[in-house]
Amino acid sequence: MSQRCALGWGGVSVAALVLGACLTVRAEQQTPRAEAAKLKNPVASNAASLAAGQQLYQKYCRFCHGTTGHGDSPTAPKDIKPSNLTDAVWDRGSSDGEIFVVIQEGAGPDYRMKGLKGKITDQDTWNLVNYVRSLAAPAK
Ligand code: HEC
Repeated sequence: MSQRCALGWGGVSVAALVLGACLTVRAEQQTPRAEAAKLKNPVASNAASLAAGQQLYQKYCRFCHGTTGHGDSPTAPKDIKPSNLTDAVWDRGSSDGEIFVVIQEGAGPDYRMKGLKGKITDQDTWNLVNYVRSLAAPAK
């Protein structure tokens, strides 16, 4: 717990107040990159996972990132630049865990790419991670 939070323990009523404030701050925080990178992908990147990921991608992602993931979709809002998911550049981290968190929590200016946390299962999020990876490395 941070110093600021620990201060609250001086008095019981103050403690409750400060603790409440601390919890609020916590809920708004995005998962730090270092923590995201540690997440292990429990879903093997096999044909079934890639097929499920592809379906989800068509439904939730193609709109902005384009059918092939090049980030050039004509239907994407004009004022944002969806990333090219097929190149070697991963501004938000290239580990499976980091991609997982981007899909769950969203990205971009004002989080215009909406996170899918609570909308799809963790398993489906990993299916998407596997599929996005296959876009970047189609030779596999
Ligand atoms: C509303 C448009 C929009 C939708 C829909 C969308 N994205 Fe994005 N996405 C963006 C934008 C914009 C960025 C760039 C964020 C930035 O660099 O600031 C981005 C970034 C990303 C990144 C990070 C790329 C990197 O280089 O680090 C990944 C991964 C990603 N999106 C995957 C997905 C997936 C998977 C879906 C579907 C579940 C999806 N996106 C849906 C707009 C969108």
